[in-house]
Amino acid sequence: MKELQIEVTLSSTRKQKPDFDNLVFGTVFTDHMFVWDYTEGTGWHDPQIIPYQPITLDPAAMVFHYGQTVFEGLKAYLTKDEQVLLFRPDENMKRLNRSNDRLCMPSIDEELALSALKQLISIDREWIPGVEGTSLYVRPFMIAIEPHLGVSPSKNYRFMIILSPVGAYYKEGINPVKIAVESEYVRAVKGGTGNAKTAGNYASSLKAGEIAYQNGYSQVLWLDGKEQRYIEEVGSMNIFFKINGEVVTPELNGSILEGITRKSIIELLKYWNVPVVERKISIEEIQQACHEGTLEEAFGTGTAAVISPIGELLWKNEKMIVNNGEIGTLSQKLYDSLTGIQNGTEPDPFGWTVRV
Ligand code: COI
Repeated sequence: MKELQIEVTLSSTRKQKPDFDNLVFGTVFTDHMFVWDYTEGTGWHDPQIIPYQPITLDPAAMVFHYGQTVFEGLKAYLTKDEQVLLFRPDENMKRLNRSNDRLCMPSIDEELALSALKQLISIDREWIPGVEGTSLYVRPFMIAIEPHLGVSPSKNYRFMIILSPVGAYYKEGINPVKIAVESEYVRAVKGGTGNAKTAGNYASSLKAGEIAYQNGYSQVLWLDGKEQRYIEEVGSMNIFFKINGEVVTPELNGSILEGITRKSIIELLKYWNVPVVERKISIEEIQQACHEGTLEEAFGTGTAAVISPIGELLWKNEKMIVNNGEIGTLSQKLYDSLTGIQNGTEPDPFGWTVRV
């Protein structure tokens, strides 16, 4: 494993830690951050760990105008015997470079970026909450910083990593959420940026999410951008259904994010010999399964929430209730197994966890 030589400046003061029993997702940040600049012609240079602080950018920095930026999200867990575990961080680094490629941003050395991430976590290790259901959320991201208003790829970039102690993503926690099927707005289209982890996808999702929220729903179910018929994602998560004993999830088609939790769930189900299929799923098929009583479970998957069960789907004024609005047996088992592997309380037969 390659090690990045980083200049470290430690903070002279330490912030007060929040109450680890009452964390609100993504609102509190640790004492330090990692910064690494890229300049055309020079490449990546001057990696630093410095005290967490605001950054200064030229108002013409291209990220502000044309949204050339990508991000990742992963979690570090504190085990009962005080080890620090990361979950499949190599997959995040690979996806970061796939997103970079789509946004015409420079690739980063995955091993060196991972080395930076581990060094930062080691420095801010006491910020990892040990409380059940909590973790340290790790947010690597890259922004275009060249001051230039012409539409073209930036010549210069900044890669940063910040850390945030987190609890549950949704206030509902692992309790099922109500979801409205979105028939007007779309999240992504084939050939667009739907499978890249880039800010624009999230910005354009806000309108539909807000309308759903005003109507008493936690999030929206996204349909495909062409026919508005085939299911793609739920909120900012991938989606799974259990229909008549079989688990189905939309196949990757270029507009769906290649979730690492999604991939892990599929691998876990195969390991358990539970039938799991990646294919196109229409909203009519879900409605029919609901009418026939074969729609057994539905849940979203993502790093932030891990598993988020769906208790109700609203489509064209019809409320489709899933499993009486309660968490399904398989959803609960997947949540327990995956979080157990992640926080070191369950064996890891796949070698997914990486020690810091
Ligand atoms: C995730 O589920 O991990 C996400 O991508 C949500 C994140 C944008 C907070």
